[in-house]
Amino acid sequence: MAAPSPLRFLTQSFKQASTVGAVWPSSRGLSRAMVQPIFSSVHRDGPMRVLEIGAGVGPVTEELVVRMLPGDRLDVVELNPEFCLVLRERFAGCQVPPNIHQVSILDFDPGVRYHHIVSGLPLANFPGDMVEKIYASIFKLLEPNGTFVMFEHVLGRELLNTFTTGTARKRIEHILRIEQSMEGLVVDRRTVPLNMPPARVLVRKHPGANGGES
Ligand SMILES: C[S@@+](CC[C@H](N)C(=O)[O-])C[C@H]1O[C@@H](n2cnc3c(N)ncnc32)[C@H](O)[C@@H]1O
Repeated sequence: MAAPSPLRFLTQSFKQASTVGAVWPSSRGLSRAMVQPIFSSVHRDGPMRVLEIGAGVGPVTEELVVRMLPGDRLDVVELNPEFCLVLRERFAGCQVPPNIHQVSILDFDPGVRYHHIVSGLPLANFPGDMVEKIYASIFKLLEPNGTFVMFEHVLGRELLNTFTTGTARKRIEHILRIEQSMEGLVVDRRTVPLNMPPARVLVRKHPGANGGES
């Protein structure tokens, strides 16, 4: 389960800049902060289903597999074929081997809902309409009492909003509006300075939690 050379990530970040959206894999501190909301409760109702979206070379996947138990299910959705190869090599033979799906989250239809969803998607790179569709897909795949964890680069959206103009500015304003409309779903938010660049972890509940829409 050794981490691959970060150069494998760097190469794809240049080749596929808009979908990879970072130059370095997440730090151990950020990866742990991403999975901590899932495992913070000592109480478990039974086997858990977890979905990771946008795993890259697997820093967050590693923190998941070492904490999951036999009988749990981990599905990983990753668009980039090179990263899928790395993930299959890296996690073969784990106690809870992840099922790696080389597909866009927008086309993923597993026929089940997940107790927890963790996303490393670089949403700030995407068109606003696509971000809306991605959030809709995520909440369709999440159990109504589930948790959705994602990270964003600190100041990323704010800097883009300040320093971009024209279409790029409209795009980022659209994303900020979508995320402001979901502010009521945020149950935790924490900053992880030791990451390149520093990041913020956001934990959201499902819009249908406690009897809302599902
Ligand atoms: C910022 S990287 C995060 C990688 C890793 N989670 C980490 O923390 O180092 C974003 C990842 O999302 C993947 N990705 C981008 N668009 C996607 C999509 N529509 N469906 C699934 N994965 C996608 C990219 O290929 C890339 O691996």
